[in-house]
Amino acid sequence: MIRVDRFLGTMGAGSRSDIKKYIKAGRVSLEKDGQRRAISDPSEKIPEDSVIIFDGRELRYEEYQYFLLNKPAGVLTAVSDRTRTTVLDLVKGEGIRTDIVPVGRLDMDTEGLLFLTNDGALVHKLESPASGIEKEYEAVLDREVSDEMKARMIREFASGLEVIESDKGGDAFVARPAKLTFPGSDSRLARVILTEGRYHQVKRMFLTEGYTVVKLKRLREGSILLPDDLAEGCFKKVEKMV
Ligand code: URA
Repeated sequence: MIRVDRFLGTMGAGSRSDIKKYIKAGRVSLEKDGQRRAISDPSEKIPEDSVIIFDGRELRYEEYQYFLLNKPAGVLTAVSDRTRTTVLDLVKGEGIRTDIVPVGRLDMDTEGLLFLTNDGALVHKLESPASGIEKEYEAVLDREVSDEMKARMIREFASGLEVIESDKGGDAFVARPAKLTFPGSDSRLARVILTEGRYHQVKRMFLTEGYTVVKLKRLREGSILLPDDLAEGCFKKVEKMV
């Protein structure tokens, strides 16, 4: 059995001192067998088959939670930071567990699909290079790409590109075969599907070919697409991932 103050803290109801105040103010009650009573002791253990009511709303305990975020550019993939907005600043509130973490990372200037969960086993699985889960990105390049260059890049991405060392850190490596397409009439617009996630990988793959990525967005991870109706900075709770 879990203490009521811990339960409320984990489920995003507020800080420890907020929760103490809420309990003192009679805003938290417990309902069991159809009977509701106010909680006065923050250390009280919540009995089985009971529900906690906070400000008149039922707060359910969920062991694992899963979220999809449409990360905007300018937001840091981290749990906390002293000065910068993090993805956790965007995914929080009452009913959202405070122990969720981002799965993998997107660069500060990269947008799009990011998973968050407190399911450690799943985080481990998804972050493991062995998982081979596909990640699809849309990249805008700094200039037009000729048909000849497109064909060469598609071939080189598919056969395992030797990616150059990064001046921001990160050794040279041979990328796993990746699928590159140029889907529209604008030749600067590329789509790439990777099965790994090395440091700045997409940007470095294009840099190896002589192009700078000026905008990058993740569109898909495994079978999960970035939902069309999920605006930038918004998130969605889901039952499962990948
Ligand atoms: N590749 C990159 O270069 N950056 C990202 O954020 C993700 C993939």
